[in-house]
Amino acid sequence: MRIAVAGTGYVGLVTGVCLASKEHEVTCVDIDEKKINLMSQGISPIYEPGLSELMRDSKDNITFTTDYKAAYSGADVIFIGVGTPEKKDGSANLSYVYKVAEQIAESLEKDCVIVIKSTVPIGTNDKIEQFIKAKLKRHVNVYIASNPEFLAQGSAVRDTLHASRIIIGVEEPQAAEILQDVYKDFDSPKMVTNRRSAEMIKYASNDFLALKISYVNEIANLCELVGADIEDVTMGMGYDSRIGTKFLNAGIGYGGSCFPKDTKALSWLATFNDNELKTIRAAIDVNESQKFKLVKKAKKYYDDFSGLTVAILGLTFKPGTDDLREAPSLVNIPILLEDGANIKAWDPVGVENYKKIYPTEIEYCETISQAITGADLCFIFTEWPEVKNMDVRDFETFMKRPIVLDGRNCFKLEQFRNVHIIYDSIGRTRVDYLYI
Ligand code: UGA
Repeated sequence: MRIAVAGTGYVGLVTGVCLASKEHEVTCVDIDEKKINLMSQGISPIYEPGLSELMRDSKDNITFTTDYKAAYSGADVIFIGVGTPEKKDGSANLSYVYKVAEQIAESLEKDCVIVIKSTVPIGTNDKIEQFIKAKLKRHVNVYIASNPEFLAQGSAVRDTLHASRIIIGVEEPQAAEILQDVYKDFDSPKMVTNRRSAEMIKYASNDFLALKISYVNEIANLCELVGADIEDVTMGMGYDSRIGTKFLNAGIGYGGSCFPKDTKALSWLATFNDNELKTIRAAIDVNESQKFKLVKKAKKYYDDFSGLTVAILGLTFKPGTDDLREAPSLVNIPILLEDGANIKAWDPVGVENYKKIYPTEIEYCETISQAITGADLCFIFTEWPEVKNMDVRDFETFMKRPIVLDGRNCFKLEQFRNVHIIYDSIGRTRVDYLYI
Protein backbone atom coordinates (compact mmCIF):
# COMPACT_ATOMS: atom_id res chain seq x y z
CA MET A 1 0.00 0.00 0.00
CA ARG A 2 1.22 3.57 -0.67
CA ILE A 3 1.47 5.34 2.64
CA ALA A 4 2.52 8.89 3.49
CA VAL A 5 3.42 9.92 7.03
CA ALA A 6 3.28 13.57 8.07
CA GLY A 7 5.85 14.44 10.75
CA THR A 8 9.05 12.62 11.58
CA GLY A 9 9.21 12.93 15.35
CA TYR A 10 9.09 9.91 17.66
CA VAL A 11 5.60 8.92 16.53
CA GLY A 12 5.81 9.73 12.81
CA LEU A 13 9.27 8.37 12.08
CA VAL A 14 8.81 5.16 14.06
CA THR A 15 5.41 4.58 12.43
CA GLY A 16 6.84 5.18 8.96
CA VAL A 17 9.83 2.91 9.48
CA CYS A 18 7.74 0.10 11.02
CA LEU A 19 5.20 0.25 8.18
CA ALA A 20 8.05 0.18 5.65
CA SER A 21 9.41 -2.91 7.39
CA LYS A 22 6.07 -4.60 6.59
CA GLU A 23 6.56 -4.00 2.86
CA HIS A 24 4.41 -0.89 2.53
CA GLU A 25 5.71 1.84 0.25
CA VAL A 26 6.22 4.72 2.68
CA THR A 27 7.05 8.40 2.20
CA CYS A 28 7.81 10.42 5.32
CA VAL A 29 7.18 14.14 5.10
CA ASP A 30 8.66 16.88 7.24
CA ILE A 31 9.21 20.63 6.85
CA ASP A 32 12.70 20.41 8.35
CA GLU A 33 15.11 19.99 5.41
CA LYS A 34 18.06 19.24 7.67
CA LYS A 35 16.21 16.29 9.20
CA ILE A 36 15.07 15.07 5.77
CA ASN A 37 18.67 15.15 4.49
CA LEU A 38 19.87 13.17 7.50
CA MET A 39 17.15 10.55 7.16
CA SER A 40 17.71 10.26 3.41
CA GLN A 41 21.28 9.25 4.25
CA GLY A 42 19.91 6.58 6.57
CA ILE A 43 20.62 8.55 9.77
CA SER A 44 17.92 8.79 12.43
CA PRO A 45 17.65 12.31 13.92
CA ILE A 46 16.40 10.84 17.21
CA TYR A 47 17.92 8.28 19.55
CA GLU A 48 15.62 5.30 19.74
CA PRO A 49 16.91 1.74 20.23
CA GLY A 50 16.65 -0.37 17.06
CA LEU A 51 15.38 2.48 14.89
CA SER A 52 18.54 3.09 12.82
CA GLU A 53 18.87 -0.63 12.13
CA LEU A 54 15.25 -0.97 11.01
CA MET A 55 15.62 2.18 8.88
CA ARG A 56 18.60 0.58 7.17
CA ASP A 57 16.85 -2.77 6.67
CA SER A 58 13.76 -1.10 5.22
CA LYS A 59 15.53 1.49 3.08
CA ASP A 60 14.10 0.15 -0.20
CA ASN A 61 10.55 0.83 1.02
CA ILE A 62 10.97 4.29 2.54
CA THR A 63 11.76 7.76 1.24
CA PHE A 64 11.94 11.13 2.98
CA THR A 65 10.84 14.43 1.50
CA THR A 66 9.73 17.98 2.17
CA ASP A 67 7.56 17.83 -0.97
CA TYR A 68 4.22 17.12 0.69
CA LYS A 69 2.22 17.43 -2.55
CA ALA A 70 4.11 14.61 -4.20
CA ALA A 71 3.80 12.47 -1.07
CA TYR A 72 0.10 13.05 -0.38
CA SER A 73 -1.33 13.22 -3.91
CA GLY A 74 -1.00 9.52 -4.70
CA ALA A 75 -1.20 8.01 -1.21
CA ASP A 76 -3.78 5.36 -0.28
CA VAL A 77 -3.37 6.18 3.40
CA ILE A 78 -1.88 9.26 5.09
CA PHE A 79 -0.86 9.12 8.74
CA ILE A 80 -0.69 12.41 10.64
CA GLY A 81 1.93 12.12 13.39
CA VAL A 82 2.81 15.73 14.14
CA GLY A 83 3.08 17.20 17.64
CA THR A 84 0.17 18.54 19.68
CA PRO A 85 2.11 20.47 22.34
CA GLU A 86 0.59 22.04 25.40
CA LYS A 87 -0.74 25.59 25.19
CA LYS A 88 -0.40 28.01 28.10
CA ASP A 89 -3.92 27.18 29.33
CA GLY A 90 -3.19 23.42 29.28
CA SER A 91 -5.20 22.68 26.14
CA ALA A 92 -3.64 20.94 23.13
CA ASN A 93 -2.17 23.08 20.37
CA LEU A 94 -3.62 21.65 17.16
CA SER A 95 -2.07 24.13 14.75
CA TYR A 96 0.39 21.57 13.31
CA VAL A 97 -2.39 19.04 12.74
CA TYR A 98 -4.50 21.66 10.94
CA LYS A 99 -1.54 22.81 8.85
CA VAL A 100 -0.99 19.24 7.62
CA ALA A 101 -4.74 18.78 7.08
CA GLU A 102 -4.75 21.85 4.85
CA GLN A 103 -1.79 20.57 2.84
CA ILE A 104 -3.49 17.19 2.44
CA ALA A 105 -6.73 18.80 1.25
CA GLU A 106 -4.96 20.79 -1.45
CA SER A 107 -2.85 17.82 -2.59
CA LEU A 108 -5.26 14.86 -2.77
CA GLU A 109 -5.88 13.48 -6.23
CA LYS A 110 -7.54 10.17 -5.32
CA ASP A 111 -9.61 8.57 -2.57
CA CYS A 112 -7.68 8.33 0.66
CA VAL A 113 -7.88 7.34 4.33
CA ILE A 114 -6.42 10.03 6.57
CA VAL A 115 -5.34 8.61 9.90
CA ILE A 116 -4.78 10.82 12.93
CA LYS A 117 -2.10 9.30 15.12
CA SER A 118 -1.27 12.47 17.00
CA THR A 119 -2.92 12.67 20.42
CA VAL A 120 -5.89 14.98 19.88
CA PRO A 121 -8.83 16.07 22.03
CA ILE A 122 -12.06 14.14 21.67
CA GLY A 123 -13.99 15.45 18.67
CA THR A 124 -10.93 16.60 16.72
CA ASN A 125 -11.28 13.87 14.06
CA ASP A 126 -14.80 15.12 13.32
CA LYS A 127 -13.57 18.69 13.00
CA ILE A 128 -10.64 17.69 10.79
CA GLU A 129 -13.07 15.82 8.53
CA GLN A 130 -15.19 18.93 8.03
CA PHE A 131 -12.09 21.07 7.58
CA ILE A 132 -10.55 18.83 4.92
CA LYS A 133 -13.80 18.27 3.05
CA ALA A 134 -14.36 22.02 2.90
CA LYS A 135 -10.90 22.61 1.45
CA LEU A 136 -10.62 19.73 -1.04
CA LYS A 137 -9.50 20.87 -4.49
CA ARG A 138 -10.76 17.76 -6.32
CA HIS A 139 -13.74 15.37 -6.14
CA VAL A 140 -12.28 12.55 -4.10
CA ASN A 141 -13.59 10.53 -1.15
CA VAL A 142 -11.76 10.99 2.11
CA TYR A 143 -12.24 8.94 5.23
CA ILE A 144 -10.86 10.14 8.55
CA ALA A 145 -9.74 7.54 11.09
CA SER A 146 -8.37 7.80 14.60
CA ASN A 147 -5.51 5.41 15.32
CA PRO A 148 -3.86 6.54 18.56
CA GLU A 149 -0.29 5.67 19.35
CA PHE A 150 0.75 3.72 22.44
CA LEU A 151 4.51 3.59 21.94
CA ALA A 152 6.79 4.63 24.79
CA GLN A 153 10.10 6.32 24.07
CA GLY A 154 13.05 4.03 24.54
CA SER A 155 11.00 1.03 23.33
CA ALA A 156 9.16 2.72 20.47
CA VAL A 157 10.09 0.22 17.74
CA ARG A 158 9.13 -2.82 19.80
CA ASP A 159 5.94 -1.09 21.04
CA THR A 160 4.93 -0.41 17.42
CA LEU A 161 5.82 -3.76 15.88
CA HIS A 162 4.23 -5.64 18.80
CA ALA A 163 1.71 -3.12 20.07
CA SER A 164 -0.41 -4.01 23.10
CA ARG A 165 -3.38 -3.13 20.88
CA ILE A 166 -4.18 -1.37 17.63
CA ILE A 167 -7.18 0.90 18.07
CA ILE A 168 -9.03 1.75 14.88
CA GLY A 169 -11.55 4.55 15.33
CA VAL A 170 -13.78 4.99 12.28
CA GLU A 171 -17.21 6.13 11.19
CA GLU A 172 -17.29 4.15 7.91
CA PRO A 173 -16.57 0.41 7.43
CA GLN A 174 -14.44 1.11 4.32
CA ALA A 175 -11.89 2.97 6.45
CA ALA A 176 -11.77 0.12 8.98
CA GLU A 177 -11.13 -2.41 6.19
CA ILE A 178 -8.25 -0.40 4.76
CA LEU A 179 -6.63 0.04 8.18
CA GLN A 180 -7.05 -3.66 8.97
CA ASP A 181 -5.18 -4.24 5.72
CA VAL A 182 -2.40 -1.77 6.64
CA TYR A 183 -1.89 -3.65 9.91
CA LYS A 184 -2.46 -7.19 8.63
CA ASP A 185 1.14 -8.25 9.35
CA PHE A 186 1.17 -6.83 12.88
CA ASP A 187 0.66 -9.48 15.56
CA SER A 188 -1.40 -7.23 17.88
CA PRO A 189 -5.05 -7.38 18.91
CA LYS A 190 -7.08 -4.97 16.79
CA MET A 191 -10.13 -3.20 18.07
CA VAL A 192 -12.52 -1.22 15.91
CA THR A 193 -14.57 1.50 17.56
CA ASN A 194 -15.90 4.93 16.71
CA ARG A 195 -13.57 7.90 16.42
CA ARG A 196 -14.48 9.66 19.65
CA SER A 197 -14.00 6.50 21.69
CA ALA A 198 -10.63 5.91 20.03
CA GLU A 199 -9.56 9.45 20.89
CA MET A 200 -10.70 8.93 24.47
CA ILE A 201 -8.93 5.55 24.79
CA LYS A 202 -5.62 7.32 24.21
CA TYR A 203 -6.16 10.01 26.85
CA ALA A 204 -7.80 7.69 29.36
CA SER A 205 -4.87 5.24 29.07
CA ASN A 206 -2.12 7.83 29.49
CA ASP A 207 -3.93 9.62 32.29
CA PHE A 208 -4.56 6.37 34.13
CA LEU A 209 -0.85 5.55 34.03
CA ALA A 210 0.00 9.06 35.25
CA LEU A 211 -2.54 8.63 38.04
CA LYS A 212 -0.95 5.32 39.02
CA ILE A 213 2.47 6.99 39.27
CA SER A 214 1.21 9.93 41.32
CA TYR A 215 -0.66 7.55 43.60
CA VAL A 216 2.43 5.47 44.23
CA ASN A 217 4.51 8.60 44.79
CA GLU A 218 2.10 9.79 47.47
CA ILE A 219 2.20 6.37 49.14
CA ALA A 220 6.02 6.51 48.93
CA ASN A 221 6.08 9.90 50.63
CA LEU A 222 3.92 8.49 53.42
CA CYS A 223 6.14 5.39 53.66
CA GLU A 224 9.06 7.69 54.49
CA LEU A 225 7.10 9.26 57.32
CA VAL A 226 5.84 6.02 58.85
CA GLY A 227 8.88 3.80 58.28
CA ALA A 228 7.50 1.51 55.55
CA ASP A 229 9.45 0.57 52.41
CA ILE A 230 7.82 1.49 49.09
CA GLU A 231 9.70 -1.18 47.14
CA ASP A 232 8.30 -3.91 49.40
CA VAL A 233 4.89 -2.24 49.46
CA THR A 234 4.57 -2.15 45.67
CA MET A 235 5.91 -5.67 45.36
CA GLY A 236 3.29 -6.83 47.84
CA MET A 237 0.58 -4.91 46.01
CA GLY A 238 1.67 -6.29 42.66
CA TYR A 239 0.93 -9.90 43.58
CA ASP A 240 -2.69 -8.92 43.17
CA SER A 241 -3.17 -9.32 39.42
CA ARG A 242 -5.87 -6.66 39.52
CA ILE A 243 -3.16 -4.18 40.51
CA GLY A 244 -0.04 -5.59 38.80
CA THR A 245 3.55 -4.46 39.27
CA LYS A 246 3.90 -2.24 36.19
CA PHE A 247 4.04 1.53 36.52
CA LEU A 248 4.32 1.35 40.27
CA ASN A 249 7.86 2.69 40.46
CA ALA A 250 8.04 5.57 42.89
CA GLY A 251 10.32 8.43 41.94
CA ILE A 252 10.61 12.15 41.38
CA GLY A 253 7.59 12.27 39.12
CA TYR A 254 6.70 11.57 35.53
CA GLY A 255 8.13 13.65 32.70
CA GLY A 256 8.23 13.32 28.94
CA SER A 257 6.18 14.67 26.11
CA CYS A 258 3.02 12.74 26.94
CA PHE A 259 1.83 12.35 30.54
CA PRO A 260 2.30 15.99 31.60
CA LYS A 261 0.63 17.24 28.41
CA ASP A 262 -2.15 14.65 28.23
CA THR A 263 -3.23 14.98 31.87
CA LYS A 264 -3.52 18.74 31.47
CA ALA A 265 -5.30 18.46 28.12
CA LEU A 266 -7.97 16.06 29.44
CA SER A 267 -8.43 18.12 32.55
CA TRP A 268 -8.84 21.21 30.36
CA LEU A 269 -11.35 19.38 28.15
CA ALA A 270 -13.40 18.37 31.19
CA THR A 271 -13.46 21.96 32.48
CA PHE A 272 -14.43 23.17 29.01
CA ASN A 273 -17.40 20.81 29.18
CA ASP A 274 -18.41 22.12 32.63
CA ASN A 275 -17.03 19.00 34.22
CA GLU A 276 -14.14 18.29 36.54
CA LEU A 277 -11.66 15.39 36.60
CA LYS A 278 -10.70 15.55 40.25
CA THR A 279 -8.45 12.49 40.16
CA ILE A 280 -6.45 13.78 37.20
CA ARG A 281 -6.16 17.24 38.75
CA ALA A 282 -4.74 15.57 41.85
CA ALA A 283 -2.29 13.51 39.76
CA ILE A 284 -1.02 16.71 38.13
CA ASP A 285 -0.61 18.51 41.48
CA VAL A 286 1.18 15.58 43.11
CA ASN A 287 3.54 15.33 40.14
CA GLU A 288 4.40 19.02 40.22
CA SER A 289 5.51 18.87 43.85
CA GLN A 290 7.18 15.47 43.53
CA LYS A 291 9.68 16.93 41.07
CA PHE A 292 11.16 19.03 43.88
CA LYS A 293 11.42 16.17 46.33
CA LEU A 294 15.17 15.72 46.03
CA VAL A 295 16.01 19.40 46.34
CA LYS A 296 13.90 19.50 49.50
CA LYS A 297 15.76 16.47 50.81
CA ALA A 298 19.08 18.16 49.99
CA LYS A 299 18.17 21.03 52.31
CA LYS A 300 18.54 18.59 55.21
CA TYR A 301 22.24 18.47 54.42
CA TYR A 302 23.00 21.99 53.17
CA ASP A 303 21.22 25.31 53.83
CA ASP A 304 21.98 26.39 50.29
CA PHE A 305 24.07 25.09 47.42
CA SER A 306 26.37 28.06 46.98
CA GLY A 307 29.91 26.96 46.11
CA LEU A 308 29.05 23.25 46.35
CA THR A 309 30.06 20.79 43.69
CA VAL A 310 26.94 18.88 42.72
CA ALA A 311 26.99 15.74 40.59
CA ILE A 312 23.96 14.96 38.43
CA LEU A 313 23.49 11.44 37.12
CA GLY A 314 20.90 11.41 34.33
CA LEU A 315 19.43 14.38 32.50
CA THR A 316 16.72 12.84 30.31
CA PHE A 317 13.14 12.22 31.48
CA LYS A 318 13.74 8.47 31.43
CA PRO A 319 16.41 6.02 30.25
CA GLY A 320 16.62 4.92 26.62
CA THR A 321 15.91 8.34 25.16
CA ASP A 322 17.70 11.64 24.52
CA ASP A 323 14.44 13.52 25.06
CA LEU A 324 14.48 16.20 27.75
CA ARG A 325 10.88 17.31 27.61
CA GLU A 326 9.52 17.83 31.15
CA ALA A 327 12.55 16.05 32.59
CA PRO A 328 12.84 16.54 36.37
CA SER A 329 16.46 17.64 35.81
CA LEU A 330 15.14 20.72 34.02
CA VAL A 331 13.34 22.05 37.09
CA ASN A 332 16.05 21.12 39.58
CA ILE A 333 19.20 22.24 37.80
CA PRO A 334 18.05 25.90 37.53
CA ILE A 335 17.52 25.97 41.31
CA LEU A 336 21.01 24.61 41.93
CA LEU A 337 22.58 27.02 39.44
CA GLU A 338 20.72 29.98 40.86
CA ASP A 339 22.04 29.09 44.29
CA GLY A 340 25.58 29.10 42.93
CA ALA A 341 26.33 25.37 42.75
CA ASN A 342 28.99 24.02 40.40
CA ILE A 343 27.28 21.29 38.42
CA LYS A 344 28.98 18.25 36.93
CA ALA A 345 26.57 16.18 34.87
CA TRP A 346 26.66 12.77 33.26
CA ASP A 347 24.15 11.29 30.83
CA PRO A 348 24.91 8.73 28.10
CA VAL A 349 22.79 10.37 25.37
CA GLY A 350 21.13 13.52 26.71
CA VAL A 351 24.17 15.82 26.83
CA GLU A 352 23.98 17.17 23.26
CA ASN A 353 20.40 18.33 23.81
CA TYR A 354 21.27 19.73 27.23
CA LYS A 355 24.11 21.78 25.75
CA LYS A 356 21.52 23.61 23.65
CA ILE A 357 19.98 24.90 26.92
CA TYR A 358 23.10 25.16 29.10
CA PRO A 359 26.12 25.42 26.78
CA THR A 360 28.60 26.64 29.41
CA GLU A 361 26.92 26.64 32.82
CA ILE A 362 27.41 22.91 33.41
CA GLU A 363 30.50 20.74 33.28
CA TYR A 364 29.54 17.71 31.18
CA CYS A 365 31.39 14.52 32.05
CA GLU A 366 32.18 11.46 29.96
CA THR A 367 31.95 9.01 32.85
CA ILE A 368 30.04 8.63 36.10
CA SER A 369 33.25 8.64 38.12
CA GLN A 370 34.33 11.94 36.54
CA ALA A 371 30.95 13.47 37.44
CA ILE A 372 31.04 12.41 41.09
CA THR A 373 34.71 13.22 41.67
CA GLY A 374 35.02 15.92 44.36
CA ALA A 375 31.23 16.30 44.68
CA ASP A 376 29.54 17.43 47.89
CA LEU A 377 26.23 15.97 46.76
CA CYS A 378 24.95 13.66 44.05
CA PHE A 379 21.47 13.68 42.53
CA ILE A 380 20.19 10.74 40.49
CA PHE A 381 17.45 11.88 38.13
CA THR A 382 17.39 9.03 35.57
CA GLU A 383 17.74 5.30 36.18
CA TRP A 384 20.21 4.58 33.37
CA PRO A 385 21.56 0.98 33.51
CA GLU A 386 25.08 2.40 33.89
CA VAL A 387 23.97 4.00 37.16
CA LYS A 388 22.05 0.97 38.41
CA ASN A 389 25.02 -1.29 37.70
CA MET A 390 27.76 0.92 39.16
CA ASP A 391 29.65 -0.07 42.26
CA VAL A 392 28.18 2.13 45.01
CA ARG A 393 31.57 2.18 46.73
CA ASP A 394 32.58 4.63 43.97
CA PHE A 395 30.52 7.31 45.73
CA GLU A 396 32.73 6.88 48.78
CA THR A 397 35.92 6.72 46.74
CA PHE A 398 35.31 9.72 44.48
CA MET A 399 32.99 12.16 46.27
CA LYS A 400 34.20 14.79 48.72
CA ARG A 401 31.12 14.18 50.90
CA PRO A 402 29.30 11.04 49.83
CA ILE A 403 25.67 12.17 50.04
CA VAL A 404 23.58 10.47 47.37
CA LEU A 405 19.99 11.52 46.69
CA ASP A 406 18.38 8.97 44.43
CA GLY A 407 15.17 10.03 42.69
CA ARG A 408 14.73 6.68 40.95
CA ASN A 409 15.54 4.08 43.62
CA CYS A 410 18.39 2.64 41.55
CA PHE A 411 19.94 0.64 44.38
CA LYS A 412 18.96 -1.75 47.13
CA LEU A 413 19.38 -0.34 50.62
CA GLU A 414 21.58 -3.33 51.56
CA GLN A 415 24.21 -2.10 49.11
CA PHE A 416 24.89 0.82 51.46
CA ARG A 417 25.18 -1.14 54.70
CA ASN A 418 28.94 -1.36 54.96
CA VAL A 419 30.00 1.85 53.28
CA HIS A 420 30.38 5.42 54.46
CA ILE A 421 27.71 6.94 52.25
CA ILE A 422 24.52 8.78 53.08
CA TYR A 423 21.89 7.34 50.74
CA ASP A 424 18.49 9.00 50.64
CA SER A 425 15.97 7.64 48.13
CA ILE A 426 12.20 7.75 47.59
CA GLY A 427 9.79 6.04 49.98
CA ARG A 428 12.48 4.19 51.90
CA THR A 429 14.50 4.63 55.06
CA ARG A 430 17.49 6.89 54.70
CA VAL A 431 20.75 4.99 55.05
CA ASP A 432 23.08 7.19 57.04
CA TYR A 433 26.26 5.56 58.23
CA LEU A 434 26.60 8.22 60.90
CA TYR A 435 23.59 6.73 62.64
CA ILE A 436 24.17 3.02 62.01
C1 UGA B 1 3.95 7.22 27.55
C2 UGA B 1 3.13 5.93 27.60
O1 UGA B 1 3.78 4.96 28.43
C3 UGA B 1 2.92 5.34 26.21
O2 UGA B 1 2.05 4.21 26.27
C4 UGA B 1 2.29 6.41 25.30
O3 UGA B 1 2.09 5.94 23.98
C5 UGA B 1 3.21 7.62 25.29
O4 UGA B 1 3.34 8.13 26.61
C6 UGA B 1 2.59 8.66 24.37
O5 UGA B 1 1.49 9.13 24.65
O6 UGA B 1 3.15 8.92 23.29
P1 UGA B 1 6.57 7.78 27.47
O7 UGA B 1 6.17 9.18 27.82
O8 UGA B 1 7.51 7.59 26.33
O9 UGA B 1 5.26 6.89 27.12
O10 UGA B 1 7.28 7.13 28.73
P2 UGA B 1 6.84 6.26 30.00
O11 UGA B 1 7.67 5.05 30.02
O12 UGA B 1 5.39 6.09 30.07
O13 UGA B 1 7.35 7.19 31.19
C7 UGA B 1 6.78 8.47 31.43
C8 UGA B 1 7.32 9.02 32.72
O14 UGA B 1 6.79 8.31 33.82
C9 UGA B 1 8.85 8.94 32.86
O15 UGA B 1 9.34 10.15 33.39
C10 UGA B 1 9.07 7.80 33.83
O16 UGA B 1 10.25 7.94 34.57
C11 UGA B 1 7.84 7.93 34.71
N1 UGA B 1 7.48 6.66 35.38
C12 UGA B 1 7.08 5.59 34.65
C13 UGA B 1 7.52 6.60 36.77
O17 UGA B 1 7.87 7.57 37.46
N2 UGA B 1 7.17 5.42 37.38
C14 UGA B 1 6.77 4.32 36.68
O18 UGA B 1 6.46 3.30 37.32
C15 UGA B 1 6.74 4.41 35.29
